[in-house]
Amino acid sequence: MKNEYLPIKAVIEKVIVESPDAKTFILRPIDKTNHMLKHKPGQFVMLSLAGYGEAPFTYASSPIKDGVFQISVRRVGILTHALHQLKEKDIVGVRGPYGNTFPLAKIKNKDILFIAGGCGMAPLRPLIQYVFKNRKDYGRIEIIYGCRSPKDIFYKEEIKSWANNPNSSVHLTVDEPDQAWGGTCGVVCILLPKIKVNPKTSLVFLCGPGVMIKFAIKDILKLGFKENNIYASLERYMKCGIGKCGHCYIKGKYVCLDGPNFSYAQMKELGIDS
Ligand SMILES: Cc1cc2nc3c(=O)[nH]c(=O)nc-3n(C[C@H](O)[C@H](O)[C@H](O)COP(=O)(O)OP(=O)(O)OC[C@H]3O[C@@H](n4cnc5c(N)ncnc54)[C@H](O)[C@@H]3O)c2cc1C
Ligand code: FES
Repeated sequence: MKNEYLPIKAVIEKVIVESPDAKTFILRPIDKTNHMLKHKPGQFVMLSLAGYGEAPFTYASSPIKDGVFQISVRRVGILTHALHQLKEKDIVGVRGPYGNTFPLAKIKNKDILFIAGGCGMAPLRPLIQYVFKNRKDYGRIEIIYGCRSPKDIFYKEEIKSWANNPNSSVHLTVDEPDQAWGGTCGVVCILLPKIKVNPKTSLVFLCGPGVMIKFAIKDILKLGFKENNIYASLERYMKCGIGKCGHCYIKGKYVCLDGPNFSYAQMKELGIDS
């Protein structure tokens, strides 16, 4: 019988420093036929390192053909600290893809607003890449991204290229500007007056710290966005990632199976404010 907990090996092909406490790992599964590479935007992977444990990380890249995928890891504790010591050619364990995907059929021909905070840009990036790859299928695209400081902005070069797409804008804000920063300062919500999408018909995707999600949802509801058009990617403690251990269970739902992406209407049913 197949052991669902058994990871496959993946080689670290490249390590990219995103910020003082975050790195992106480009991973190449050794078994090229493995379904790890057939993920959809919004899903996550369980990544393990012998002696340090296993944890969920969202795919930070759209499915691509050359046999690699990316994850971006913020250093917070034992496993993530150990991951940050790894170099090219080192091996990690991966299993997945797990979790639900963003509602790809629902966003077709719609305006879309993305709101990310800090490393919350990682889960949204595959969807943003997907939308820009199929640009003609979508309306106006607005991206709001807030970080602690300019040093903490992920995917800097790629973000510049997003702003060059037609009918699209990227708005950045930081809490603590440095001398070179000429942009907006403050929380993501102060950028909402700049967005030019129709709240009645647009979809919103949010990911970031719980407090950011909470206050951003309050403000976008005031602008007239509909509860079932607002989606947030949630982080809850997970052990198995496959609906067996119950660690992520809330009111009849497993965040690892039914989520991690929920509409605000679903979040309210689950009693989750953020
Ligand atoms: C679906 C999902 C997707 C995720 N995607 C990413 C990602 O793309 N990049 C990324 O950097 N992190 C992501 N995380 C969080 C990541 O799993 C944790 O940071 C990781 O488990 C920390 O392991 P550690 O051993 O380094 O930290 P630990 O030593 O276990 O803990 C260090 C600190 O982090 C806190 N922490 C640990 N796990 C979580 C968690 N799940 N949620 C909130 N706080 C936690 C602990 O309370 C503690 O304060 C995701 C979590 C989930 C549930
Ligand atoms: S993490 Fe085990 S049931 Fe969801």
